[in-house]
Amino acid sequence: MRSYRIALLPGDGIGPEVMEAAVHVLQAAAREYQFELSWLPALVGGAAIDACGKALPETTLEICQQSHAIFLGAVGGPKWESLPPEAQPERASLLPLRKFFGLYANLRPVTFYPELGPVSPLKEERLGKGTDILVVRELTGGLYFGEPKGIYPTGHGTERAVDTLVYETEEIERISRLAMKIAQARKRKLTVVDKANVLQSSLLWRKVLNRVAQEFPEVSLEFLYVDNAALQLVRDPRRFDVLLCENLFGDILSDELAGLAGSLGLLPSASLGSTRFGLYEPAGGSAPDIAGKGIANPLGQILSGALLFRYSLGEEEAARAIEKAVQKTLADGYRTADIATPGAHVVGTQEMAVAVAERIEPPN
Ligand code: IPM
Ligand code: MG
Repeated sequence: MRSYRIALLPGDGIGPEVMEAAVHVLQAAAREYQFELSWLPALVGGAAIDACGKALPETTLEICQQSHAIFLGAVGGPKWESLPPEAQPERASLLPLRKFFGLYANLRPVTFYPELGPVSPLKEERLGKGTDILVVRELTGGLYFGEPKGIYPTGHGTERAVDTLVYETEEIERISRLAMKIAQARKRKLTVVDKANVLQSSLLWRKVLNRVAQEFPEVSLEFLYVDNAALQLVRDPRRFDVLLCENLFGDILSDELAGLAGSLGLLPSASLGSTRFGLYEPAGGSAPDIAGKGIANPLGQILSGALLFRYSLGEEEAARAIEKAVQKTLADGYRTADIATPGAHVVGTQEMAVAVAERIEPPN
């Protein structure tokens, strides 16, 4: 039987509960599609700080290295916000994990489920039936990692804060080629989001993209300033298919898109590098305000699991079965609180997962 090891990093806030829900669904899919999953639990984020003083312990890294993929919940919360910035869960675990494994490509597929039209802040006629948009976000460069970075004394009693937006040719090239390949396999349209009217880095992105584009003559390439992109997305998301963004722009626009589609709790993500190994996590964060209540939406975590099956395990059929089951569950009226409309059948985190698992169809 095919067998895979998955590093299981639930983390903080709603992480553990949506993780438990997702594992239930992934197990059900693995059973149907006849492969075996072994889960290797490890500490990350605030939970790791509490247990051993470090947000990303050595043992966690080792477990990840021994696995086919990392399945992560969320990190961070108010409890750790008073720590020095460099020790906080996000900066001390999530970013180093992405960097350590060279996971430069973050894929965030945004699905506009027709059933969720009523919860979208957009008028339903603007949503289109089943629009889906893929955000390709550069994940290991730009402002998140650029040096120098810090708050420095100016020498006359004040301070200067510095973040550096830096990209090298190769970093742009590899993500551009990947985005082009993806666009080619979809609707052959790639929109690159930048700020080329102000930023030098955007000029280099354009130069590299125009060169890479020559390898993909069938793909139509457009550039859009990020402020305009934010506007066009709320006006008419239907005109987009694949969006390529540098790190920070991708972070921001993917939340906007998730909101337009109905909820941040729906958005999965895959972080990939140059091998099959990847890190899979929902984009929604640890949501401390609702943690422990059993009401968080597990669909972002479940759909991240589908991406894990697809990209790291090559289990495409099982991945699709999960995505179809999610669709079916929504079509059957199941809603967590974040996507509920008046009169909806509102369920908790685990109930939602059970409903999805029950709808996984066997191979045909
Ligand atoms: C995300 C999150 C992270 C990011 C935070 C938690 C550091 O917002 O994955 O989108 O900015 O990348
Ligand atoms: Mg974000």
